[in-house]
Amino acid sequence: MKTKEIFDLSIKLGIDSDFRGTDGVQKLLNKRKKKYDSLTDKEYFDIESLTNPYLDSRIHNISEDKEIKKVLAGIDVDTAELLLAKQLGDIDLVIAHHPVGKALASLGDIMELQADVYNYYGVPINVAESLNRQKISEVSRGVSASNQQKSVDSAKILGINFMNSHTPADNLVAKFLKDLIEKENPETIEDVLNLLKEVPEYKEASLNGCGPKAITGSPENRCGKISITEITGGTEGSSRLMEALSQAGIGTTIAMHASEDHRKKAEASHVNIVIAGHISSDSLGMNLFLDELEKRGVEVVCFSGLTRVKRI
Ligand SMILES: [Fe+2]
Ligand SMILES: [Fe+2]
Repeated sequence: MKTKEIFDLSIKLGIDSDFRGTDGVQKLLNKRKKKYDSLTDKEYFDIESLTNPYLDSRIHNISEDKEIKKVLAGIDVDTAELLLAKQLGDIDLVIAHHPVGKALASLGDIMELQADVYNYYGVPINVAESLNRQKISEVSRGVSASNQQKSVDSAKILGINFMNSHTPADNLVAKFLKDLIEKENPETIEDVLNLLKEVPEYKEASLNGCGPKAITGSPENRCGKISITEITGGTEGSSRLMEALSQAGIGTTIAMHASEDHRKKAEASHVNIVIAGHISSDSLGMNLFLDELEKRGVEVVCFSGLTRVKRI
């Protein structure tokens, strides 16, 4: 496979597991095309947005458009990790999970997905969009302060093919957890925790002291309706959505991670939050993608926090 084929595969997997469905994703792309057509000055329009629904995931550098035989995949990739890739000598492509470069600058845009995910679980779209919009502008302002091109510059100097897959991989985790919860239908928080600990990535994290935890609610609490609202969609959304979730009839939500503000708002609204784990969840999503690469004959080596578990 070539770098572009690997990247396109990750986007396709993201769309296939998107809460909005393929029609919803197509609607988003059509909306962007309409906007593009209406512009007289197209210089600053992000052309990639016409085909890629997940702008927090991009190809950052192709030094050599060769057949990719071996990839090095990790959660966070900066100059140190790229130097390690160079040192290994036989790595054709480095794949990061967390966004860098222009993908990091687009982190706010991807959060639009969250309004649809909350809506999927019963939060009225007007409430979800309104709360989400405030948070999007906050996140966009936040990332604009970062030195986003740093690792991309390093990849260019080192001559390393470099891409990242963020929301496509997180969509895979969200779909995986949704299917698991719907199949096993856990009754109590403790049941949810035990169920998560059966997933190898979460089991490994538990052994390393950062396994699934309930941060609001007691283990004996009944779950009520469970939502998978804090797994995909860029980064943590508005904490005020916790109250909206409660009003929508959600008793428990499963999150990758949650801030103290989120925890307090959830507690005040009697929503149980189960933290699945951040890097373990990111590993799970990347593993589901990397399995597809291995199936196509690409060798995978992991680093930077990615616990490799194969399901093939
Ligand atoms: Fe993630
Ligand atoms: Fe993450």
